[in-house]
Amino acid sequence: MNEFVFQNPVKLIFGKDSISNLPNELSAYGDRILVVYGGGSIKKNGLYDELMDLLNKENKEVFELGGVEPNPRLSTARQGADMCKEHNIDFILAVGGGSVLDCTKLIATAAKYDGDPWDFVVKKATPTDAVPFGTILTMAATGSEMNAGSVITNEETEEKYGWGGPFNFPKFSILDPTYTLSLPRNQTVYGIVDMMSHIFEQYFHTATNTPLLDELCEAALRTIMDAGEKLVDDLHNYDLRETILLSGTWGLNGFLGMGNAGGDWGSHDIEHAVSAVYDIPHAGGLAILFPNWMKHTMKLNPERFARMATNVFGVNPEGKSNEDIAEEGINKLRTYWTSIGAPETLADFGIDDSKIDLMAEKAAAHGPVGRFGKLNKDEVKSILTASL
Ligand code: NZQ
Ligand code: ZN
Repeated sequence: MNEFVFQNPVKLIFGKDSISNLPNELSAYGDRILVVYGGGSIKKNGLYDELMDLLNKENKEVFELGGVEPNPRLSTARQGADMCKEHNIDFILAVGGGSVLDCTKLIATAAKYDGDPWDFVVKKATPTDAVPFGTILTMAATGSEMNAGSVITNEETEEKYGWGGPFNFPKFSILDPTYTLSLPRNQTVYGIVDMMSHIFEQYFHTATNTPLLDELCEAALRTIMDAGEKLVDDLHNYDLRETILLSGTWGLNGFLGMGNAGGDWGSHDIEHAVSAVYDIPHAGGLAILFPNWMKHTMKLNPERFARMATNVFGVNPEGKSNEDIAEEGINKLRTYWTSIGAPETLADFGIDDSKIDLMAEKAAAHGPVGRFGKLNKDEVKSILTASL
């Protein structure tokens, strides 16, 4: 393993009715609360009303920023930061999926900064303070509820980048599987693909002697696949929602990445370039790209891909080369994702080859793409072309 320092300060409050802990959690902060949410799903499933009742009972002074976009935009974060400054906000409550949480992380830090929020995303400036924030998660996918990552789209420049830092950890995250019951099938599928992809990004690393991490990743992948395929045909099943919700958090809360030299993350970088240009759902892009990334990079460590094929996808290794086992595993991944309804090609989103060069350029703008794969622009292009 590589040397590492691990710290994750997020208080996770998980389970049915866990929102009842909210007053206690908020009691440590002032009364001026900014509630940030998305396009309206929380109004349809009743969470908004439940939350507002609770906040009113606690005599909180509530301000609202709704309409955070999937693939949250810089302009919305700017608006939120301005609201915090104008209304002297004491605490921000992010209520929604990863997009709402990610946008809130930029709002919270930018609220204590005089420059443009984008400076943090492109590392022109480093946050030195933040308005404290907590989350109520409504979609299992990103792990943003228990990590310090945030992914923001600059709609003017068509750039989408991840950034992070110690001020991006929520003070607490409330996870009640009940709130995820209203997720439609396509978003449920995207969540499953995203959390599996986070584990792949960490599984394909360059560190040595990582038996515990490898086993944990494989167990998590098997668990998600088993629950996932049942869930997509039984969307209101609480137990399956519960399993998938915790899996999404574990997929990217840092535990699976201890000592792994950072994993790869090239597929995420390529996907962010695709959704920066075409604004498609993040995990829709991943479902298309990841198996093609695997086929492209398999040659770097066929044994590792063969291990995944055997331990996760149940490929029988007998009498086969590592390359053949690996290839069979990757094909099984594609078959699994297709079986639950994930997209397979960029054409599924109406994307043709006209901007392949631009997307490859964006993905490779800051040097080699990924740490395990270390791809150059031409290699990214060939993965994108294979994904058409
Ligand atoms: O906006 P609303 O109306 O709330 O609807 C959302 C949105 O349309 C809907 N939804 C969420 N919860 C729902 C629900 N609909 C019904 N019932 C519910 N309970 O789902 C749609 C997608 O929501 P979004 O928040 O965009 O999805 P997700 O959680 O997948 O977040 C995607 C964003 O996270 C970034 C992605 O790039 C993308 O911008 N990522 C963030 C990461 C992180 N912070 O660590 C890591 C990831 O790899 C990822 O890059
Ligand atoms: Zn992701």
